[in-house]
Amino acid sequence: MRLRDCHNFHDFRTLARRRLPGPIFNYIDGAADDEVTYRRNTVSFERCDLVPNILRGVETIDLSVIVLGQKLEMPVYCSPTALQRLFHHQGERAVAAAVAKFGTMFGVSSLGTVSLEELRKAHKTPQAYQFYFHKDRGLNRAMMQRAKEAGVDVMMLTVDSITGGNRERDLRTGFSIPFRLTLGGMLQFAIKPLWGINYVTHERFKLPQLDEHVDMSGGAMSIGRYFTEMLDPSMSWSDVAEMVRAWSGQFCLKGVMSVADARRAAEIGCTGIVISNHGGRQLDGSRAPFDQLAEIVDAVGDRIDVLMDGGVQRGTHVLKALSLGAKAVGVGRFYLFPLAAAGQAGVERALGLMRTEIERDMKLMGCTSISQLSRDNLRFR
Ligand SMILES: Cc1cc2nc3c(=O)[nH]c(=O)nc-3n(C[C@H](O)[C@H](O)[C@H](O)COP(=O)(O)O)c2cc1C
Repeated sequence: MRLRDCHNFHDFRTLARRRLPGPIFNYIDGAADDEVTYRRNTVSFERCDLVPNILRGVETIDLSVIVLGQKLEMPVYCSPTALQRLFHHQGERAVAAAVAKFGTMFGVSSLGTVSLEELRKAHKTPQAYQFYFHKDRGLNRAMMQRAKEAGVDVMMLTVDSITGGNRERDLRTGFSIPFRLTLGGMLQFAIKPLWGINYVTHERFKLPQLDEHVDMSGGAMSIGRYFTEMLDPSMSWSDVAEMVRAWSGQFCLKGVMSVADARRAAEIGCTGIVISNHGGRQLDGSRAPFDQLAEIVDAVGDRIDVLMDGGVQRGTHVLKALSLGAKAVGVGRFYLFPLAAAGQAGVERALGLMRTEIERDMKLMGCTSISQLSRDNLRFR
C-alpha cells in the first residue's frame, strides 16, 4: 500500500498502522475507557441527512471563511496535537507546511515537538497556540508573553484536560514520554526498524514549548507527571477571565460542551469556543460535539465564533457542522494518520482530498459559498 492508494481516512489509518510501532499507533488511535465517545463522535453525523437543492449554477465555489478574526481558505483547520515528531520525523514542520499550502489554520500544541517561533517564522497562515493552565501563574504569564512575542494569532486554552484521560491502550503498551515500554511494547518497536532509524538519525526529540520552563529531560519529568504535578485542577472562570484580559486578542476555549459554559465563555470576553471532547480521549461517555452544536450555536452564536472538532472524516461531516452554525471545523486524527503514513506529502494529500470533497459536496448541495449553508439543508432522523 502506497500514499496514492489512500483515498479516505480509513486508508490513511491502515497505512499509518503499517508504518508505526504499535504503541505509537495506539497512542494516536486510542481514546478513554471503552472508547464509546470516540466512536460516537463520527457516528453522530449519521443521524443527520443533507437535503440538496438543484439547478442553482454552481460552477465556482468559494470555501473561505472568517473565523476568530482569521481568513481561512477552507473551513477545516488542523487541531493542536502533541508529539508530532514521534509520528513522523518531519512532525509539525510537515503539518504546518501543508496547512500553509491550503491557506488554513494550524494549532500548535503546548506539547509540540517544534517551536512555535520556528513555525511562525516559516509560514504566514494563521497560527493558534494551544495552552494548558499551570499552577504557577508566573509560568502562565511567561508562556503567554512568549506567544505574543512570537506573533501567535489565536490563543486556545484547553479546558477539558484538568486530569489525564484513562487511555488503556497506552497502559498496556507502556507508552509514555520518556519511553517506559512494556516488553510487548518494545517488541512492537523492534519489528518497525525504519521508524527507529528515522527517529535516531534526526534531530533529538524535544518539547520546545515547555523545555524552557520545565525540565522534561532525562526522565526528570514525564508527560504524565507534567499533567498531574504542574497543571492546575483548581483553574476557575476568574483565572481564565484574567488570562483573556492579559492576552487582549483572539482567545478561545477548547473543550466546551455545555450551553452554560459557552455562555460563560462569552461573558468573560472569549472570542470563540471549540466544542470538543478531545477526540474521545478524556471523558468517555461524554456527548459528541456534533450533537451539542445546535444548542450552543443558538445560545451564543451571535456573540462568539463557535467551532467544533471530533470525529470529522468526510467533507459531508464538515458541511453538516457548518449548516448547523459552526464557523469552522477542526480535525485531529484526520491529519495525524497521513502524517505518520507519509509526512508532509501525506498531510497534503489528506487536506487536498478534504478540499475536493467539500467542493464536490457544495456543488451537489447547490451552494456556492459557505454562507449559503443553513439548517434548511438538514433533517435529523
Ligand atoms: C494523538 C493526539 C494528540 C492530541 N494532543 C492534544 C494536545 O496536545 N492538546 C489539545 O488540546 N488537544 C490534543 N488532542 C485533541 C485534538 O486537538 C482534537 O480535539 C481531537 O483530535 C479531535 O478529534 P479527532 O481526532 O477525531 O479529529 C490530541 C488528539 C490526538 C489524537
